[in-house]
Amino acid sequence: MDLTIRPRRLRGSETLRKMVRETRMDPSSLIYPIFIKEGTGIREEIPTMPGQYRYSVDTMGEKLASLQNAGVSAVMFFGIPDHKDELGSGAYDANGIVQRALRRAAKDFPEIYRITDVCMCEYTSHGHCGVLRESRDPVQGDGGVFCGSGAPVHGYEVDNDRTLEFLARTALSHAEAGADMVAPSDMMDGRVAAIRTILDEHGFINTPIMSYAVKYASAFYGPFRDAAGSAPSFGDRNSYQMDFHNSREGVKEALLDVEEGADIIMVKPAMSYLDMVARIRNEVHVPVASYSVSGEYSMIKAGAKLGYIDEEKIICETAASAFRAGCDLYLTYFAEEIAGYMREGKIG
Ligand code: PBG
Repeated sequence: MDLTIRPRRLRGSETLRKMVRETRMDPSSLIYPIFIKEGTGIREEIPTMPGQYRYSVDTMGEKLASLQNAGVSAVMFFGIPDHKDELGSGAYDANGIVQRALRRAAKDFPEIYRITDVCMCEYTSHGHCGVLRESRDPVQGDGGVFCGSGAPVHGYEVDNDRTLEFLARTALSHAEAGADMVAPSDMMDGRVAAIRTILDEHGFINTPIMSYAVKYASAFYGPFRDAAGSAPSFGDRNSYQMDFHNSREGVKEALLDVEEGADIIMVKPAMSYLDMVARIRNEVHVPVASYSVSGEYSMIKAGAKLGYIDEEKIICETAASAFRAGCDLYLTYFAEEIAGYMREGKIG
């Protein structure tokens, strides 16, 4: 056979395959999302996310220690408060759950980089990512109160501009409690600028903002909402999170957030949105993060439990695919496992 070019030549041995590998990864790119709950002595397995736990401030150290040992140096904090109200006051309470977790982590694990999710949905009684106002048209908006069957008699919508003030306060309270970086995930327009302004006014000029800029309205968040008790009590998030049919709109969101001062742009979820990671990578000149969300984690866990897929291999393959698509940072509930596989040379 007269074949000059034989791609298989470069696949002949593991050594050679590793030499010519295009995607290189190491644990410094991994971020682990952790759930911290009000209370003490808590280590609750999340039913829809087997292997993931809700910790309290006094028990989170066990996970932070094992992450650190595995070489994972960045954590994203999510809070599960006891108290919820209309205005999500727990989100910006100086003594809120995330704020206390931050102070404790800063003291006990100063080398771990502390990122916070800035949003209101875990703290509002209605579960929306901002404060509500009555909408003029009950059929539009984010949902409503029904009286019998038919159209809602009362409609509500998330008040974008008023929410900005609460998000900014939340981000500031996180920075004051020791957050190294803040990550708004609410999808309100203008929130990156609002957060940048308040942080700068209070001297946090060097606190970076990682914006969940390209965040889709996704059913992949289902297990997270169980874990954090943050599902909206009525309606959905379709008026603020993105329609999953859209790609160009993601570029618009990313460019806008960079203009407003975002230091890092996130695409979320990961697996079904790697086209967006690749596209955004070419559109912005800041680092791009990809968030492999709860539903992705739970599908792998469920498939593996049933014996349909090989858990370890699937974890490696999905992680590599996000980096191959072009992300610089990867948020994943498998961070500790992936760091281990990297150390063992299974990926990286
Ligand atoms: C808060 C937030 C959510 C996630 C991260 N930040 C839930 C949502 O938007 O409903 C999802 C993370 C995951 O599914 O792992 N708004």
